[in-house]
Amino acid sequence: MIKPKLVDLVSHSDKRGFLSVLSPIQTAFPSEINRIYILHHSNPESERGGHAHPNLWQMIFCTSGTVTIEVATPNESYIYELSECEKALIIPPGYWRTLYNFTPKTVLVVLADREYEDTVYIRNFKDYANWFNTNARESLDNN
Ligand code: TYD
Repeated sequence: MIKPKLVDLVSHSDKRGFLSVLSPIQTAFPSEINRIYILHHSNPESERGGHAHPNLWQMIFCTSGTVTIEVATPNESYIYELSECEKALIIPPGYWRTLYNFTPKTVLVVLADREYEDTVYIRNFKDYANWFNTNARESLDNN
């Protein structure tokens, strides 16, 4: 199992403002992009996520505000703080994720390599732990 990764965006600023770039995208995100969705008008008291994708790559950009993202397996957990256009978070297949500490202005742009398929989500942590123990643990040990 490949570890999650934060990658830096390169910012160019002048009197017109900032322009932030991640290129070439393939060095950071090894799959093709087939879907983009945007989380916006967030309720700061709410959490999102709370599920795992067995076979989906995602890359998350925070283009406004801030957010905290926990990326976990049953054995370990990584906490990332994303803020406006500084870094992108890449989440490989197989991790449980929870997004929280939204501000009202938080906007997240999420790139994914597969179409939306509700049926391949794992939405219960106990089911995820079972899935992890049978599918992902050996692959994680080997990386
Ligand atoms: P949900 O999975 O609950 O969002 P999150 O992962 O942020 O917790 O999705 C919310 C709704 O949006 C749900 O009705 C499914 C729908 N949806 C799509 O139609 N396409 C998508 O690509 C995504 C991510 C969600």
